[in-house]
Amino acid sequence: MELIRAKDYADMSRKAANIIFAQVVLNPKSVLGLATGDTPLGTYAQLIEKQKAGDCSFAQCSSYNLDEYVGLSADHPQSYHYFMRTNFFDAVDIDAANTHVPDGAAADVEAACTEYDRMVAAAGYPDLQLLGIGRNGHIGFNEPGDTFPRGTHVVDLTESTIEANSRLFDSIDEVPRQAISMGIQTIMSAHRILILASGEQKAQAVHDMVLGPITPQVPASILQLHPACTVIADEAALALC
Ligand code: F6R
Repeated sequence: MELIRAKDYADMSRKAANIIFAQVVLNPKSVLGLATGDTPLGTYAQLIEKQKAGDCSFAQCSSYNLDEYVGLSADHPQSYHYFMRTNFFDAVDIDAANTHVPDGAAADVEAACTEYDRMVAAAGYPDLQLLGIGRNGHIGFNEPGDTFPRGTHVVDLTESTIEANSRLFDSIDEVPRQAISMGIQTIMSAHRILILASGEQKAQAVHDMVLGPITPQVPASILQLHPACTVIADEAALALC
């Protein structure tokens, strides 16, 4: 694992955007694995600026997102589809037909999971997978548990994740209780991984990911085994390292 120390959120976002920018310039047909959440917002904003300035293009890229809530349609304002459209896809030149987010509204979510894994594998897995980390060490919606989930699967969200995500809904009762998430094996199949963390509330998770034992109780700890994983964390998130 390579660790890049950033001063603060803005510095973390600039550093992450520079790496994704270089990836896309060097390989305009990059397959990008993307994440939602607060953490990558600054990175997406930086990439939008770079594309608008004509410094890079996503026109030939394809993307695969990590996860989506079960039961929310693509146009639901709290869906991850909607998040990606409004915070990145609609603002850059990526072809919407080449962007993929798991289908949380599918009639058969298990079949949707299998199909998603097939598509990601057929694309050759992401050249670069962007990740955030949950306060409990989750990546995607792979929550602490007894085993590392393998492929894309349906997850029962933990109370801590439901509570953390409730800030985006009118009330905690509206937060879906299930999600579709890429599994750990799918995530680990990416050729390169970039995981971002900002803020003191992530400090324990970052410590456990980087310095703790590899255990499904801290799903991000598996990233220690990835041959090309870069962590970019700011001073607050590195407080315990
Ligand atoms: C989002 C995702 C989650 C988040 C994590 C951190 O697609 O997969 O694992 O990366 O919950 O969320 P934020 O960035 O909001 O702190």
